[in-house]
Amino acid sequence: MKKILALALAAVMLFAFAACGQTAEKEVLTMGTNAAFPPYEMVDENNNIIGIDAEIAAAVAEKLGMELEIKDMAFDSLITAVSSGAIDVVLAGMTVTPERAEAVNFSDSYATGIQVVIVAEGSAIATIDDLAGKKIGVQSGTTGDIYCAGDYGEDAVARYDNGALAVQALQNGQVDCVVIDNEPAKAFVEANEGLKILETEYITENYAAAIAKENVELLEKFNTALAELKAEGKIDEIVGKYIKAE
Ligand code: ARG
Repeated sequence: MKKILALALAAVMLFAFAACGQTAEKEVLTMGTNAAFPPYEMVDENNNIIGIDAEIAAAVAEKLGMELEIKDMAFDSLITAVSSGAIDVVLAGMTVTPERAEAVNFSDSYATGIQVVIVAEGSAIATIDDLAGKKIGVQSGTTGDIYCAGDYGEDAVARYDNGALAVQALQNGQVDCVVIDNEPAKAFVEANEGLKILETEYITENYAAAIAKENVELLEKFNTALAELKAEGKIDEIVGKYIKAE
């Protein structure tokens, strides 16, 4: 009798283990980003993608019981990648715009950004009004690109694959200024000598995650998790880790 009991117990435990093993294989949440946009996303010395977006996505994935996987791609391919289902979600310091909202759904906003102007110290450009007739460096496909091309004409903008390359072009004298989001602007100005950010700001915008139109289920789950993280103070904590209050 004892033997049978022990055997039965062993069988039950084996079954439980097997079930455990199955639930341990978590569903993957694939996030696309463009990891040259500090402090929202950048690559550390071990080639890991870190930053505010990576940490927010990891916190959301944890709440959803999913495993986060991050893919680094060109910024201007992110919307297509998510709407085609190649990735599940975009977190890339991406601004909510009406045009993009035609192609994807945006989550609730988790941060704000401001388009600012970086110039060389001693530049004749002092305010936004001085940009007319100047060569403006931008990251291709960003709102900085879209606004400047709209306001100053296609010929006024010089497009680069990322903000760092646009800043390099500014240092080499190939462009007169760079229009980019304020936080990466600060990081680039800190990392490069002889540059400054103009006091006058261009445009304020909201950052949100982008999800395929069809994937309403993920959008709802994402927003619920995000709201919880906001209420728990987790979003502020992540942002505070990367952006020091002035
Ligand atoms: N906020 C701007 C936009 O949405 C720039 C974002 C660039 N992000 C990046 N990860 N490179 O167009």
